[in-house]
Amino acid sequence: MEIAEETTYKTGAQHLLIINDSTIIKYWYQDCLDENPELLLFYPGKWRLIKQMFPYLAFKTSAMRIVQLTDLHLPPIGIKTELGIDTRRNFLDMLPRAVALQPDLIVLSGDLCYDTADTPTYTWVRAQMDALGLRYTVIAGNHDDSSLLGTAFGLLVQQKEVYFTQQVDHHTILFLDSAVATISDGQLAWLEEQLSTLKGPVLLFMHHPPFPVGMPFMDDTWPFHRSEDLMAVLARHATPVYVFCGHYHTERVAYVGNVCVHITPSLYFQLDSESAQPAVEHTRIALRTIDFEGRGLATAVKYFEGNHHNT
Ligand SMILES: [Fe+2]
Repeated sequence: MEIAEETTYKTGAQHLLIINDSTIIKYWYQDCLDENPELLLFYPGKWRLIKQMFPYLAFKTSAMRIVQLTDLHLPPIGIKTELGIDTRRNFLDMLPRAVALQPDLIVLSGDLCYDTADTPTYTWVRAQMDALGLRYTVIAGNHDDSSLLGTAFGLLVQQKEVYFTQQVDHHTILFLDSAVATISDGQLAWLEEQLSTLKGPVLLFMHHPPFPVGMPFMDDTWPFHRSEDLMAVLARHATPVYVFCGHYHTERVAYVGNVCVHITPSLYFQLDSESAQPAVEHTRIALRTIDFEGRGLATAVKYFEGNHHNT
């Protein structure tokens, strides 16, 4: 048999090896893959049957993969963070973990700077990211300066905002600028225009969650201020809009209508999501993987130990 294309589909515990589009030559259970692969032969035309057998079959391993890192909070060199956490070390430790996941894109979703934005920090981050040899992009958070960030990373600055789309694996991904906890009329109009050209589910990155998510301290003290207007635009999109954020220093999922928000934990510390006061819950750090195929999405957060002491 001539093998034109080989594709492996993830199906939870099982994997399917697909030869061509319609011919499946074997499947096996992952836990006995090495010693005792269960070999079944199928023939062209059986693909419909296989889909009935595995209704949850959704994600190819060849799906577009994004790794999101957020809220780096890197102080200028020589300055210590308030909690004595070495955030530069946290960031550097996380990069090989991100690379090992073989992403098509790494997104740094804001708060690259510790407190006040500074160009040397952006230049340092850019050098680390460029050295990976992988595609990456950045958006601004409330501890960033969009103009400085845009200039440092070669992104277009429009009226002090940096928002843009990127094409990855035939998908258009949207990146918004919420650095000042709101967005301009111009950015909102641009977003509406972009969405009108897109069919199917949309991936969108912004630093702030677009609406309150039930975390008292952040919802009350550091909310996104133009929620109603932004949500009205997103609600007009006929299919799901998957929004990936940081900012809240926690892990949370929240839905309103067609808008599903995934909040990703910080590379600094995580906040107690029940508290009305700023309370650190723990100092483990995390990355998020996002696998997207156009018709389906799988996302997961993975935690690692953080560095607790400045060196
Ligand atoms: Fe932050």
